[in-house]
Amino acid sequence: MTNPASTPEKTSSATASGFSIPFMTGDQIRASFIEFFKSKGHTYVPSSPVVPHDDPTLLFINAGMNQFKSALLGENREGWKRVANSQKCIRVSGKHNDLDEVGRDTYHHTLFEMLGNWSFGDYYKQEAISWAWELLTEVWKLPKDRLFASVYKNDDEAMEIWKTQTDISHDRILRFGDKENFWEMGDVGPCGPCSEIHFDIGDPETREATFADPILGVNGTNARYIEIWNLVFMQFERLAGGDLKPLKNKNVDTGMGFERACSVIQGSGSNYETDVFRPLIDKIAELSATPYGKGVDGTPHRVIADHIRALSFAIADGATPGNEGRGYVLRRILRRASKFARELGQKDPFLFRLVPALADLMGGAYPELKARQDYIAQVIRAEEERFGKTLDLGLDRFAKVAEQAKAKKQTEIDGVEVFTLYDTYGFPTDLTRLLAEEQGLTIDEAGYAAHMDEQRERARGAAKFTAAIAGDEGWTILAPGLDTEFVGYDSLSAEMPVLRYREEGDTVLLVAARTPFYAEAGGQVGDIGTIEGQGVTLRVLDTVKVFDMVVHKCALAGGLLTPDALKQAKGSVDAEARAAAVRNHSATHLLHAALREVLGDHVQQQGSRVAPEGLRFDFTHHSGVSLDEIRRVETIVNAQILKNLDISHSVHGIDEAKALGAMALFGEKYGDRVRVIRMGNASAGQNKNPFSMELCGGTHATATGQIGLFKITSESSIASGVRRIEAVTGAGALSLVNDRFDRLAEIGSSLKAKPGDEPVKVAELAARLKGAEKELAELRLFKATQQAKVLLAEKSRIAGDATLVVAKIDAADKESQNAFLDAAAALLPSGVGVFTAVSGDALSIFAVVGKAAQAKIKAGDLIKELGPIADAKGGGRPDRAQAGSKAIDKEAAVLAAAEQLLTRVFG
Ligand code: ALA
Repeated sequence: MTNPASTPEKTSSATASGFSIPFMTGDQIRASFIEFFKSKGHTYVPSSPVVPHDDPTLLFINAGMNQFKSALLGENREGWKRVANSQKCIRVSGKHNDLDEVGRDTYHHTLFEMLGNWSFGDYYKQEAISWAWELLTEVWKLPKDRLFASVYKNDDEAMEIWKTQTDISHDRILRFGDKENFWEMGDVGPCGPCSEIHFDIGDPETREATFADPILGVNGTNARYIEIWNLVFMQFERLAGGDLKPLKNKNVDTGMGFERACSVIQGSGSNYETDVFRPLIDKIAELSATPYGKGVDGTPHRVIADHIRALSFAIADGATPGNEGRGYVLRRILRRASKFARELGQKDPFLFRLVPALADLMGGAYPELKARQDYIAQVIRAEEERFGKTLDLGLDRFAKVAEQAKAKKQTEIDGVEVFTLYDTYGFPTDLTRLLAEEQGLTIDEAGYAAHMDEQRERARGAAKFTAAIAGDEGWTILAPGLDTEFVGYDSLSAEMPVLRYREEGDTVLLVAARTPFYAEAGGQVGDIGTIEGQGVTLRVLDTVKVFDMVVHKCALAGGLLTPDALKQAKGSVDAEARAAAVRNHSATHLLHAALREVLGDHVQQQGSRVAPEGLRFDFTHHSGVSLDEIRRVETIVNAQILKNLDISHSVHGIDEAKALGAMALFGEKYGDRVRVIRMGNASAGQNKNPFSMELCGGTHATATGQIGLFKITSESSIASGVRRIEAVTGAGALSLVNDRFDRLAEIGSSLKAKPGDEPVKVAELAARLKGAEKELAELRLFKATQQAKVLLAEKSRIAGDATLVVAKIDAADKESQNAFLDAAAALLPSGVGVFTAVSGDALSIFAVVGKAAQAKIKAGDLIKELGPIADAKGGGRPDRAQAGSKAIDKEAAVLAAAEQLLTRVFG
């Protein structure tokens, strides 16, 4: 799995730093962590995809505990007690990381693996601490005099456990405050005091540094002390208002930086020199022909090695670079890496060439990298090409901005400009800073930060809804619990035992123990309908899922809303809207299968939206889908509809479902039990080559005939390597057909064409129009020539060798003006003409100067002098120039000035 040539050939590590321990490869370290906790009764749970699908508060999975969030909050459906894993995480902004810093040091990353062990209401501080100590010092044999422990300022219990249950020297246990030793996942959610373990990698020169020094030591600025493991004692939930609510259970949540652990055990002094990274660094050095340097000159290598991992893992799990949300984050990461590739002299797409090396290096532990290797490389390459173009535009923009700043005698680039360069042109801030420095300028850091904050605020808005309703505050609670049973597969109405509701302005949010309303998921939009209580009616406008809660977003349609009125409630889904959504959802599955048949097996679903009005399906494909391919896809789908295939569903364990051959989506996180939807050969109740078989929790028709007509309405690109098809079915298809027929009839009647003759009529019309336009142009030129001849005959005078004419012309449109100027220029080979024209409220001033006369004055000079009289802006070449303004009252003044000017120059 690792490149043997790059694996440090050591049997023991870290001798340079003064201690010696058995060498282990990264894979061995990961395995040994898991084995250790298995031996302590833990179950291994695989890493979840790094792109979260069920937590709207998160852009990327950022800690091992994310997938256990519900269990930590007390909703432990799987009945877990102790689990352990290695989780792929991405941290790029906000609470836990700063993208601009990654690669500058040796131990921060955007993507990293987090080794962790958890207890859900089972063991607590004592076991967490003593097992951590046992693994580090007895299994991995890290020297005890290199380790430090920190505890929360008033956590005497943890302090006591460290002192009595481990043999750490007591002066190496330090207390810290909220910032260091109280861990929170985000603004809301599970949290608690923590105990961290730090390692002193050693620095011969400052061997005696005071390790408790708040500036230099543990948690200080000295990179010599590295945090390797965080043991969080999860006992609170942070609520939206900021209060802490004690959790039902006391839990343990730990996280160890895998790459840091490797660096410590392998004694490499830098994460980038472990066997986890070194092959990538070497590949970058080889492809760019630039050797890796451990110091500042190695920054490009480190940035690129780090970023290619984050990009590849995220893309493998279904994210793509784009303009919003996580797509935007990926775009930032790619652009930063790309900029550093340029520092290595790589102007052409470069990053994508590293994907095979990464897939070789990590594809064993994360097979999705191998499986999607070509796709990942293709997405990265396309995005690099796009950046190349943007960069050129951005450099132009920067040049202008810098010029303006200097013209205004400013020494710094405005914050808003730095932000625009960042936001619109994708310039990493350090690039703008660098360019500014080259011009002797600085950047307005505070102004820039303010704009960034505003942008972050905007991004947070969306997450707020979720955060605000996650706790109990603001709810009227009728019964305990939050879990909702969905009964809407089989019936469209049901009694709804209301658990809680909440009024927010005109909106009423309602959660019930049972519901027939489908909550938005898997691309299918939420149901609408009504909920009837005792003397109160609510209109359901949308149904969404927030964690495990199904929330009905309603408007009061009549009656009085009181807790009593909702004691007995009945929900009815809008049957028509649901039926339309169902048709579109089933059609989406047929479309998916048909696309694979026509375009190939590389077609993977990237996203979808299924609504009553129509469907949208995003999928991977490298080029546009031709009209012919679209027709074939449509024909296949409609053929399946006409066959009226049975649609059936069955519920299976996830592995069983995959073994059946059901299509699963990359990056989707499925529960243990999944629904499999089959279309075709379904009545046999088994897998007899159905036309389509997918894992899907959505609602479906019972036979394909219900879909009615399927019609694709558009095909487009939404990101590099990702296409989008939009289509309609059923009543939507019918109204589309009617609409097109109506429009065609309208066109036919204005063309006076018989049905079917419209294209011929349009072609005839276009040909006639073309002929007429040509004729018009000729006439214009003829008229202009005549006008020019008359004007010259009437108004010109001779001065020496030159014929001079100053006149106003009668030509309102641009074409006529140009025709006139062409004619005048031809008639004045050695003369000068100054003309004015008024069209509406616009004044134009023109100058034509023949070759011989240009020695005395050029057309541009004439305009420069005459333009200001009418406040007109413009310019041009030596033979022809013009300017325009709105000052039509200045026409006479311009003409008079022109006479004077020509007299001055030519006599
Ligand atoms: N959840 C804790 C962390 O991420 C372990 O540091």
